[in-house]
Amino acid sequence: MRLLASPLRPPGAAGDHHGVRRLRMWAPARVPVRLPGHMPVLGRRRPWTRLAPPDLPLDDPLAAALTGWGSPAGGIALVLPDRLTRHGAATLLAATRQVFPGAGPLVLLHRGAGGGSLLRTLRRESRGLDLLTVEMPPGASGAAAFAARDLAMAAAAAGHAGLHEVDIDADGLAWTTSWTEKAFPKDRPPLDEGDLVVVTGGLGGLGRTVARRLAERLGVQPVLLDHVDPTTPQAQGRLAGLRTSGLPFVHLPVDVTDPEAVRAVLRGVTRSRPISAIVHCAGTIEGGPVRGIELPDLMRVAAPKVEGLRAVLSAADPRRLKVVLAFGSILARVPHGNAGAYALANELLRREVDRLAATAPGPRYLTAEWSIWDGAGVAAESGAVAVARQAGYAPIRLAEGLAAVERLLAWRGPGTNVLISEESPDAITSRKESRHERA
Ligand SMILES: NC(=O)c1ccc[n+]([C@@H]2O[C@H](COP(=O)([O-])OP(=O)(O)OC[C@H]3O[C@@H](n4cnc5c(N)ncnc54)[C@H](OP(=O)(O)O)[C@@H]3O)[C@@H](O)[C@H]2O)c1
Repeated sequence: MRLLASPLRPPGAAGDHHGVRRLRMWAPARVPVRLPGHMPVLGRRRPWTRLAPPDLPLDDPLAAALTGWGSPAGGIALVLPDRLTRHGAATLLAATRQVFPGAGPLVLLHRGAGGGSLLRTLRRESRGLDLLTVEMPPGASGAAAFAARDLAMAAAAAGHAGLHEVDIDADGLAWTTSWTEKAFPKDRPPLDEGDLVVVTGGLGGLGRTVARRLAERLGVQPVLLDHVDPTTPQAQGRLAGLRTSGLPFVHLPVDVTDPEAVRAVLRGVTRSRPISAIVHCAGTIEGGPVRGIELPDLMRVAAPKVEGLRAVLSAADPRRLKVVLAFGSILARVPHGNAGAYALANELLRREVDRLAATAPGPRYLTAEWSIWDGAGVAAESGAVAVARQAGYAPIRLAEGLAAVERLLAWRGPGTNVLISEESPDAITSRKESRHERA
C-alpha cells in the first residue's frame, strides 16, 4: 500500500504547537521503610483466616510462614503466587467479602500476582478497613514472609492501621513507592516511514486518534485491531472518518484475546513487512463496587488488557519489534470507588508488561498509566471528564496527550512504567485520602 507523504517534524521542535506543556510524567521511585521488630502478641489471640488459591503448592514457603498467625482482633492472611490465576482471582474476591472494619487487617502477601489495586479500591468504598499488601520477588523465601508477618502483627497491634503497601526485596529490605517527576523523552521515536504499527482497540476513541496522529506525524502505517462490528453505523462512521483523512491504515476486525485469530488476521499484512510497534489500547471499563464483582466480571475486564497484549506479541517477530506501548490507567495506582475491576485489569497489564520486559527482551516496553483524557476516548464520551473536572481533577487535553504518546514511543527507560497526569499521584492520593478520612 502506498503511503501518503506527510512532513515529518521531530517532536518538541521549534514551532511544535502540539508539544507537551502542562502535562507531567511521573515514575515510581522506591523509598525505604523500616520494618518493625518482631512483636510478640500478648494476651488472647484469635487465629487468622488463611486464604490461598487451591493451585498454590502446599509446601509454598509463604503459605507455610502463615502457620500460627494470630492477633487480638484476628485477621485474614491471603497468599498469592507470582501470577494471578483464575483460582487466585477467585480467592482475592473471596477475601474482599470477608474483611470488615474492626475484624482485624487483611494482609495480602504475594510474589507478583498483584491485587493491591482492588484492595485499595475496596478501602475507598468501605471506610475503616485495615489493609496491608506485601509484595515479594518471585521465588521469595519464608524469611521474607516472616518479615511480612511481623509487619502484619505490628499493623494489627496498632489498632487502626489504615493502608500500607510494602515491597520486600530479596535481601529482606522493605520499600514503599513514591513518585518522581521525569522529563518526557525528546528523541524521535525509533520508527521509520512505512513501519507497521499495530494499534489494538484501534476503532476506540483513543486508539483511532493515536493511530491518526502517528500516521500524520511519523508516516507510519497503522494496523487497527478491534472487535467492534465494522458493519454498525458507529464503526462505519469511524472508518469513514479515517478514510477521508487520506491516511494509510488497515482495519482488521478481531477479538484480541484470541491469539490464533490475531495471528491469522495479521499474517496478511506482516507478509511483506514486520510489525515495528504495538500500541495496546484495547480495553473495556465496567463499574460497580468491589464486593459485587463476580469472577467472570474480573476476567472479562482483564482479558483484553493482558491476554490481548500476549496475543498480539505472539504475532510479532521480537527481533523486528521496536516498541511496545501499553495504555494503562492511573486508577491502578490511585483508587476510585466503583472502578475495582478496571483498576485490577490495569494493574495486571502493568505487571504483564514488566514480566515481558524481563523475559522477552527485544523491544522497548512501557506501560503509560494515564489520567483521564478529554477530547477523545470513553471518559470524554461518557461524561466522566466533566465529573472529574467538578471534583477538581485536571483531565489530559487531547493535543497534549497525543504529543505525549509520540514522546513515549521514544522511551528508553530506566523502568517500564510511567504515570501521566498534570498532578502528582502522591498529591492526588493524599487529597483523596484526607477526603476519605473526613467523610
Ligand atoms: N479514555 C481515558 O480517559 C483513558 C484513561 C486512562 C486509560 N485509558 C485506557 O486507554 C485505552 C483506550 O481507551 P479509550 O478511551 O479509547 O476506550 P474505548 O473508546 O472504549 O476504546 C477501547 C477499544 O478497545 C476495544 N476492545 C475491547 N475489548 C476488545 C477485544 N477483546 N478485542 C478487540 N478490541 C477490543 C473496544 O471495543 P468495544 O467498545 O466494542 O468493547 C474499544 O473499541 C483503554 O485501554 C483504557 O483503559 C483510557
